[in-house]
Amino acid sequence: MSSSTLPTASAKRFPDDFVWGVATSAFQIEGAHDADGKGPSIWDSFCRQPGVIADGSSGDVACEHYARWEQDLDMIRDLGVEAYRFSVSWPRVRPTGDGEWNEAGLAFYERLVDGLLARGLKPYLTLNHWDLPQALQDIGGWGNRATVERFVEYAVGIAKRLGHKVVSIATHNEPWVVAQLGHETGVFAPGLKDRRLAAQVSHHLLLSHGLAVTAMRELQLKASLGIVLNMAPMYPATDSDADRAKARLEDGKLRRWYMDPLFNGHYPQDVIEHLGDDAPYVEAGDMDRIRVPIDFVGINYYSRGMASADNSFDPKTGGLELTDMGWEVYPQGLTDLLVSVHRDYPAAKRLYVTENGGAFPDPVGADGRVHDEDRTRYLDTHIAAVGDAIAQGVPMGGYMVWSLMDNFEWASGYEKRFGIVHVDYATQRRTPKDSALAYRDFVLARRAARQV
Ligand code: FCB
Repeated sequence: MSSSTLPTASAKRFPDDFVWGVATSAFQIEGAHDADGKGPSIWDSFCRQPGVIADGSSGDVACEHYARWEQDLDMIRDLGVEAYRFSVSWPRVRPTGDGEWNEAGLAFYERLVDGLLARGLKPYLTLNHWDLPQALQDIGGWGNRATVERFVEYAVGIAKRLGHKVVSIATHNEPWVVAQLGHETGVFAPGLKDRRLAAQVSHHLLLSHGLAVTAMRELQLKASLGIVLNMAPMYPATDSDADRAKARLEDGKLRRWYMDPLFNGHYPQDVIEHLGDDAPYVEAGDMDRIRVPIDFVGINYYSRGMASADNSFDPKTGGLELTDMGWEVYPQGLTDLLVSVHRDYPAAKRLYVTENGGAFPDPVGADGRVHDEDRTRYLDTHIAAVGDAIAQGVPMGGYMVWSLMDNFEWASGYEKRFGIVHVDYATQRRTPKDSALAYRDFVLARRAARQV
């Protein structure tokens, strides 16, 4: 076996306890949207609105992971990785988000976790990867403070059932996306366009995180507790004062808006001023409820941000290397980001890259294989970028590829493929791409090196 497949990454050093994994989320892979008592989520409803999903598709079938989970777990084991990051579908385990729990749903995740453990894999569980029960949306969703209480109940229910088996529980995945894309631009579920509401939603997400962590701590779990945030380092497009100011504000909206409450107990003043009358209503005591000790911050990184005061920067011009999403390939941004998060928030004791990867059009070749050199290079250079951050003293705990397999890419439907395993949706056949084989060889070589 050779490790030369990821040559740049192979030249870096990683701590012995560094965890290598792959990631998915429930709605994107499970399908079985109404099986065994599952309730509808806001993404089930959203997909039924005409025109909102690029290819008119839905998560009804997706990768049929709900039925094929055992085969999928074998596939993860065969990739040689140590960890699997997945999410629980809230409406599968508690169909209306309130009232009765659905034992069939709980049993599914228990089988999944037991199946991971039986294969020697570490389960990393995420509670909210966006699929809120529709019944809660019907009474205001994340805009309604009552949803915070429902989320804490959900967290405690899952923690009681699985918190002694899983390695880690993250409360939310990318609350910025839920707030901004779900409630301000409206391109994601629930599809609302209201900046004031979006700001209130972000506050309720943070509040529910803090209260859920506090409630789960009382259970004395084995699992470490944290949150997953999407981040991009913001660079000014030019050296002008206006562009620098814009980059600072964009960093405030994306990163400091979440990290300051989590670690410093306040919202960033510049963003509060920017929001003006749209700033969220914060009850007395909320900021203390949000700032509770956590064990890790998961960071999802795909690309950098370029800020220009007149919004003139367009990554599609200027010869930059772009993925199929139109996102620039910029590995140095990952090093810069990790180093700056550690510098600005030393209280974040452990950082993980919980998602990183690229969408590329991946035809299956005449030889039945997928020669995705662009993705292999993406993984190589980004893993190397994590190595560079480690060399600069950033306390990194692990790296997870987004994604294990091609899946439902939200508003892009099935047209964008992020998997290191190819999925033929007509047959549900899974084919590891060349990037999967390269990642496997790389991880196995790192694991073997530890044992000598
Ligand atoms: C992130 C999401 C994940 C996936 C990737 C491409 O924002 O957390 O579900 O869609 O982007």
